Amino acid sequence: MAKAADVYFRADPWKIIEKDFDPAYSQVSESVFSLANETIGVRGCFEEGGSVSSLRGAYINGVYDTEPLPRSYRGIIDETHFMIPAADWLMTGISLDGEKLDLGKADFHSFRRELDMLSGTLTRSFVWRTASGRELRLTFLRFVDMIHRERAYQRVSMEALNYSGEVVFTSGLSFDVLHMGNRKCYWQEARTEATENRLMLQARTLRSGQEVFAGALLDMPGNAAIQRTGKTVSMCATLPLRQGREIHIDKRVVLLFDETAGETLWQSGLAALSESEKVSTEEALQAQREYWDAYWRISDVKIGASKENAAAVAAEQQGIRFCSFQLAQIYNGGSMRHNIGAKGLTGEAYNGHAFWDTEACCLPFYLFTNPQAARDLLLFRYNTLPQALARAQMLDCRGACYPIATLNGNEACSLWQHASLQLQPSTAVAYGIWHYVHVTGDRAFLYDYGAEMLLQIARFLASRVEKGGRTGKYGFFGVMGPDEFHMMVNNNAYTNYMGKRTLMCAMAALDALRAERPEAFAELTQKTDLKEEEPARWREIADGMYLPRDENGLIEQHDGYFNLPHTDINAIPVEQFPLYDHWSYDRIYRSDMIKQPDVLMMLYLYNTSFSEAEKRINYEFYEPRTIHESSLSPAIHSILAAELGKMEEAVRFFGFATRLDLDNYNRNTREGLHVTSIAMAWANIVYGFAGLRSDGDGLGFAPRLPERWNLLCFSVLYQGRVIRITMEKDGTRFRLVRGEPLDIRVYGKPRTVSKEEIIISGL
Ligand code: BGC
Repeated sequence: MAKAADVYFRADPWKIIEKDFDPAYSQVSESVFSLANETIGVRGCFEEGGSVSSLRGAYINGVYDTEPLPRSYRGIIDETHFMIPAADWLMTGISLDGEKLDLGKADFHSFRRELDMLSGTLTRSFVWRTASGRELRLTFLRFVDMIHRERAYQRVSMEALNYSGEVVFTSGLSFDVLHMGNRKCYWQEARTEATENRLMLQARTLRSGQEVFAGALLDMPGNAAIQRTGKTVSMCATLPLRQGREIHIDKRVVLLFDETAGETLWQSGLAALSESEKVSTEEALQAQREYWDAYWRISDVKIGASKENAAAVAAEQQGIRFCSFQLAQIYNGGSMRHNIGAKGLTGEAYNGHAFWDTEACCLPFYLFTNPQAARDLLLFRYNTLPQALARAQMLDCRGACYPIATLNGNEACSLWQHASLQLQPSTAVAYGIWHYVHVTGDRAFLYDYGAEMLLQIARFLASRVEKGGRTGKYGFFGVMGPDEFHMMVNNNAYTNYMGKRTLMCAMAALDALRAERPEAFAELTQKTDLKEEEPARWREIADGMYLPRDENGLIEQHDGYFNLPHTDINAIPVEQFPLYDHWSYDRIYRSDMIKQPDVLMMLYLYNTSFSEAEKRINYEFYEPRTIHESSLSPAIHSILAAELGKMEEAVRFFGFATRLDLDNYNRNTREGLHVTSIAMAWANIVYGFAGLRSDGDGLGFAPRLPERWNLLCFSVLYQGRVIRITMEKDGTRFRLVRGEPLDIRVYGKPRTVSKEEIIISGL
């Protein structure tokens, strides 16, 4: 592994701490200190802005704009869409003695910024010393409401340390915000209003026509003057300060985006603002603590170590908690309009788009902690089935081709190599449906939604597959597998295998529907115009699919891969990461270096379908050729390494996966967090060290505690049960916290989990 940690934040079990601000890490900190509640999100940027390097961004899930693209060839999109920053609700200005607060220029000390994962709050404090020698202690607190997801809170506290005098304070809301990548404001036609303590603003995007209402209630001493300029409205007041007496300015914010517009949205916004007034900031803070408390009771992962390993393990503990914290912020279900952006709501990179990562990597976390959210994620795909049907047609295929990158169901990726050649979004959606139904037993979902998606995906694959070539068998030609460093390849093993499994899954779903709900089957047949001969052809394709594999079980990633020149990935200097910034696009295609697990990905997803010998030979061959340039890579390797008993490697990859952003391993955390790695860090614990397997019959575990840990403890939700798993040196305890006893397998042997704890020791 060529990558290394760049340690900046302090280790703490429940907090992320930045002490003494280093401007070089400004944007990294902004990403790490992001807050969100699935609906609204905000980067950890300084309220007062200033000249520090910043990627200022407050986002609303589902808010985007579009740009036309030059007309190109058939199959290549001619319009793209991307998340844009919405109203800047943190906007604050502070002036003292005619000096404007700007940490890029000001003299300040005692800086500390903390993200508290027990309350979901971000605080920043420091002492500002003006040129005249006056010292003002400032503390900024913010949080986004996890329950009322349209609400957010900000509190600014000020204490004059060595004088009594005045400070000029401004607080506002603004749609004069720039999309940093395009250096463009995407908001127009703002309506602004302000009363004594309220600011209200509504604006419309340039092309997508979406409207957002932003409102703020300010609790500010003194007489404030209202200022309106462009798409910004603010209040400004001169506040008296008495030495040693702290004052607070509270701001409660409502951001509404509900697909209504104009007066209807305005009125809903006003009502939501009035509603929010019923709760004080303290009450909202208390409710917030209770929310997180309940969350951690199910979703906490506790790691313990002896004294000599305490430091290393403290970093891992913090890392995994940070990941769980972020997952709850990024998505927790309830809206079928949202998916999981590859950067969540933490930055503009990846444009807010969701990828196949959702089903292949993020879904397990929700399956085992919040199955309703897993279902909602899949319903997003059902709701966007019409767009997937249209996309398949653009590619001269039939059925449903799911987009590689999307916010609204349409393909948004303008790189045709990715958008047209990657079939993994479609096979991942199929895998997600299958995995969800397999784990939850929710057959109603399969019959009401899943079967239709599976049918259309199978139809797409059947129209995309070819027969012939060197092997004379079925295979996918001209594709890009998960390893994006090889494009336009033939017989990518992953794509062929996932295609085969998808076809089999679709056939099984339709058979079950026909047997159990004949009327629904007849309806679906009619709706989709399914011909009798189609499933028969899917069977022929699945049976005749080419799967390259030598006599030892080594799988060639794609035709010709074994003949490619070799790149020694350990010889690549760390300054050249991320490669996409330092190597030309075509240079990375010319060798056997791979970006992320490809063959290994299918060994992870359909784990129980492959033997240990197959996993070993492929792991040992492909891992040294993998540069882990994709954030989903390290955890997949860690999980397989743990299964193969390569515990040192497993722990090393886990450190990488779990602290990818905290330690900026890929040197691009400034762009936003790597949500897939965050989700996979959880999988790394549960599938890696506890050895959960959920793709076979029932649940299987094979716990392997890393040498330097003496405790690993977590819970999983499974079919109405809560199972607590505690791994210690002398064995693993399984206990049912809630629900009916359950038969599981541990190290391959049948066991029953009940309220009475069972202890299983050793392999
Ligand atoms: C990876 C893709 C992934 C995307 C979003 C890319 O770098 O190669 O597999 O879907 O990032 O995480």
